[in-house]
Amino acid sequence: MITRDESLDLVKQHVKNKNLVNHMIAVSAIMKRLAEFFNEDTELWEAVGLLHDIDYEVTSDDFSKHGLISAEIVSELLPDEGIHAIRAHNEMTGFKAESKMDVSLFAADALSGMIVAGALVRPTKLEGMKASSIRRRMKDKSFARQVSRENIMRCEEIGIPLSEFLAMGVEAMQSVGQEIGL
Ligand SMILES: [Fe+2]
Repeated sequence: MITRDESLDLVKQHVKNKNLVNHMIAVSAIMKRLAEFFNEDTELWEAVGLLHDIDYEVTSDDFSKHGLISAEIVSELLPDEGIHAIRAHNEMTGFKAESKMDVSLFAADALSGMIVAGALVRPTKLEGMKASSIRRRMKDKSFARQVSRENIMRCEEIGIPLSEFLAMGVEAMQSVGQEIGL
């Protein structure tokens, strides 16, 4: 299994935008937490989260390729289930998020955006953030309107109640708060 450091190095070779690298770190932390919840392979889930947007800067002119190029880049590094999750996190690829890992990545991708938006309007950022504040933000349609609430809600398809999903997401992102500058 590729190590976290190796994944992060590879990401930094392909992605110059720091915010995007931070986004991938955030999603990887949530994926790791969800793997613990499901008693799945934490290293694999973390790697999938870390690598999922590695093609972002080369697919900006054709978003339907987003996820497909990532899958090519990491084809030798991850097992098939990880590759599938990466393809399926973008609906435009035609791949569907179906497995626990697929849906976790899909929902974690959106959740990380909501939590970042929530942290940016707090003086202490992620520190001391409660899941209930994210829940309130989600209900406010004008807040971070680019973040799909529907995508976040897909956690329930894999048996995670929304409140628990938010709590795990906040906790996971707090664990990498310093690293991502939040
Ligand atoms: Fe993403």
